[in-house]
Amino acid sequence: MKKVLACASLASCLAFSPLVVSHSKGDMLVRVGLSSAQPDDASSNIVVGTDLGFGLGVDGNSQLGLNFAYFISDRMNIEVLASTPFKHDVNFAAPNPLGTGNQLGEVTHLPPTVTLNYYFSNTSSSFQPYAGIGINYTLFFDEKFTEANQAAGLADLSLDNSLGLTAQLGFDYMLDKTWSVNGSVRWIDIDSEASFNLSGTPGRVDSINIDPLVYTISVGYSF
Ligand code: NI
Repeated sequence: MKKVLACASLASCLAFSPLVVSHSKGDMLVRVGLSSAQPDDASSNIVVGTDLGFGLGVDGNSQLGLNFAYFISDRMNIEVLASTPFKHDVNFAAPNPLGTGNQLGEVTHLPPTVTLNYYFSNTSSSFQPYAGIGINYTLFFDEKFTEANQAAGLADLSLDNSLGLTAQLGFDYMLDKTWSVNGSVRWIDIDSEASFNLSGTPGRVDSINIDPLVYTISVGYSF
């Protein structure tokens, strides 16, 4: 007997059918949202000829987050995280001896990340929490000192790219089989080192731990 004949109306059918709304093997999921990267920053001291006795600080930044996931099983996906470039202010961690203000400069980076995620819930549940681990490559570019610092002789700022681990916790809340709302918190191990020069004297910061927590809220579309 066709199932539709057992239902008096579409509404009663929906009310009595078990809803299978979660992800399944072979699904593609695209998410778009807002990502906020908050560095847990710490650095070694700035050295220009001598150790200046203090380091750098790195501010947070928010950007458009883009995210693509492919389900290799009902409970596991491979996720590629992209975003528009994050721009972080870099500050002196102590009063600036050059007298050119607190801000040292600005760096821009892209954090492409691949993560393997595992979903915990029963596949008929609309709340779908997951945990994942993966690898991040952070590409720094367009590093520059503020104009006041350039005028004071600082030049050629460069930060090394970073390869590191990432881990995250997140959830999809399934509005239906196609649309979902997502929230996640991701930790990324981003370590770098900087080089520059001050009026021709080479300078460096040997260790910059940026290690941000990245908070993301997004809307997902499955197909
Ligand atoms: Ni680190």
